[in-house]
Amino acid sequence: MNQQNLIQALPKAELHVHIEGTFEPELMFEIAQRNAVDIPYKTVDEVKQAYNFHNLQSFLDIYYAGAKALIHEKDFYDLTWAYFKKCKEDHVVHTEIFFDPQTHTVRGIAFETIFNGIFKACQDAKEKLDISSELIMCFLRHLSEEEAFEVLEQALPFKAHIIGVGLDSSELGHPPIKFELVFSKAKEEGFLIVAHAGEEGPAEYIWQALDLLHVNRIDHGVRSEEDPKLLKRLIKERMPLTVCPLSNLKLCVIEDMKEHNIKRLLDLGLCVMVNSDDPAYFGGYMNENFYAIDRALDLGEARIKQLAINSFEASFLPEQEKKKWIEKVQAM
Ligand code: HPA
Ligand code: ZN
Repeated sequence: MNQQNLIQALPKAELHVHIEGTFEPELMFEIAQRNAVDIPYKTVDEVKQAYNFHNLQSFLDIYYAGAKALIHEKDFYDLTWAYFKKCKEDHVVHTEIFFDPQTHTVRGIAFETIFNGIFKACQDAKEKLDISSELIMCFLRHLSEEEAFEVLEQALPFKAHIIGVGLDSSELGHPPIKFELVFSKAKEEGFLIVAHAGEEGPAEYIWQALDLLHVNRIDHGVRSEEDPKLLKRLIKERMPLTVCPLSNLKLCVIEDMKEHNIKRLLDLGLCVMVNSDDPAYFGGYMNENFYAIDRALDLGEARIKQLAINSFEASFLPEQEKKKWIEKVQAM
């Protein structure tokens, strides 16, 4: 089997994808039109041209603008269902989806409208596509901790179906320590914990995510490489880093895919795996991310399989399910 076929054939878990980041221009036009929402583009080409980012903030400005088209439960359902179809194409068998309620509640959309649309698509994906999923609610770090407490409160009635809480949006200037208390409360309520750290922000933010938020995984974390002591700890604890190669390239965290550190981190013994982050904006879903790093870094079969194994190891699946998928990968 050549490596492209292997990547396609492997079962994979996705652990870092923002549902609002899967909003493809075609669907955005369709939903904006039926909701009579103005979006600042006339054609799909115009949209794609606007996706010319130079850092995280320049992306987020466009990402939040696009999300304004989402109003009704059906909009959130359609968005999520479209993503699951991409999972099926890429043989992603399990996905842990981020959603950003505050992006929508600030526009007057009810929490339950957002949640129900996304969750119903998750249920249908299990039944019709045989894809399992979990939901992770993210706090927007450019907003206050008080506002994060408010959204946590709104999430409590849906707690049985939200496995964890995370932290996303503008990283620089908004360190994890800003949210120490709300994460402590979320942990008490039984949520698992993840946080974006070390994407644009320094290694110090990763230390804070570990020591103050007590995370189960770090999202991105690629700047950990700048701190040997931190690397040692991440290796020792087998703390997962949910790495997103095309995102790093598109947001100029790296200048060339050949510079990406995923292969070095993997070879050091870190639990890294491949994820798509905001695939509608960054040029591809799971398999495109694999192809891009394989082309640039020449991974070889063993590493490709290890990345798939790590995706299950680091997932929030029950141990039996993890074991089942890991054995399938090993047998390929
Ligand atoms: N980083 C931080 N926040 C985000 C991202 C990201 O890549 N995507 C959506 N929200
Ligand atoms: Zn992200």
